[in-house]
Amino acid sequence: MLKLPGLIDPHVHVREPGATHKEDWDTVTQAALAGGVTTLLAMPNTKPPIFDEATLNIALDAAKSKARCDYGQYIGAGPDNADIAASLAPKAAGLKMYLDSTFGELRLDDMTLWMPHFQKFPKSAPMVMHSESRTMAAAILFSAIYDHPVHIAHVSLKEEILLIKAAKEKGIKVTCEVCPHHLFLTKGLTGFKNLSGLPGRGEVRPRLATQEDVDSLWTNLDVIDCFATDHAPHTLQEKDGENPPPGFPGLETMLPLLLTAVDDGRLTVDGLIQRLHTNPKRIFNLPDQPETWVEVDENAVYEIKAADQFTRCGWTPFEGWKVKGKVRKVVLRGKTAFENGKVLAEAGYGRNVRG
Ligand code: NCD
Ligand code: ZN
Repeated sequence: MLKLPGLIDPHVHVREPGATHKEDWDTVTQAALAGGVTTLLAMPNTKPPIFDEATLNIALDAAKSKARCDYGQYIGAGPDNADIAASLAPKAAGLKMYLDSTFGELRLDDMTLWMPHFQKFPKSAPMVMHSESRTMAAAILFSAIYDHPVHIAHVSLKEEILLIKAAKEKGIKVTCEVCPHHLFLTKGLTGFKNLSGLPGRGEVRPRLATQEDVDSLWTNLDVIDCFATDHAPHTLQEKDGENPPPGFPGLETMLPLLLTAVDDGRLTVDGLIQRLHTNPKRIFNLPDQPETWVEVDENAVYEIKAADQFTRCGWTPFEGWKVKGKVRKVVLRGKTAFENGKVLAEAGYGRNVRG
């Protein structure tokens, strides 16, 4: 039996408010606990998006009554909310800036819209960038110019990880996360196409990349500060439909996939704890969770099945994958929150990390 600290996932799409047919605060925190995650940070691209105090409170009220693990809620950087976002920093997980297109309408197209956020958002509070490829280079330049730490979300390309490595060597305050799907999947996988031959289930932002990109992430593991799921649930009906929305669920598959990589000798248990607990706790200024741990059966070999999951979206891109390592028990702040496939923490047990 392997004992891990409570895992932290700094990148989760909860879907409440606005799209609870995909997921809500109850199901997402059940999925988190089943995956060994005791703290999740929720992204702001909900409906309505989280841009001000009223919308932040809608999400936090839902979380307060439904969450079964601990949580924080990001605020989104909009075209004209830099003052409000800065004033809400103590209540929020951090600021999320969408600098490239994705699911939702939060993209800040013009760099003049980035400037007030870099000027006003507190330097001690986390600022997370959805910025791919050359946009990432721009975000890192902003970090250097404004001397503001940035955290780059879901790094997927060789050019990106190499740029972050070079920026870190220059002393620029940049940290980053990588998602399991960018470590284990490549583009053009069969089985992901819908009836019109579109990528369908394989749609995700950033897109799945080449084997060379995937290999570069593994060879530059020391540059990766955190693993994060970017858990982005959409129903199978939506994924297989006309305009498949981008995103994969990931909360329940991250730990088994990474433990399998440990078993294969591609990652150490220490390296896993650094990236799923120690580093995110520091980067996102998260409080201690006393009497909190995850018990894993390292030798359990089984197949990933959507039918076993708690997420409401009803599918996983890793269906049928054989993995080694199963979460048996999660103790959160002294209470058994998950044991042998059952969620035991009640709705409302979860605490706001900025509470
Ligand atoms: C995310 C979503 O569905 O909210 N989709 C995705 O493909 N990752 C949005 C995002 O994180 O870009
Ligand atoms: Zn995301």
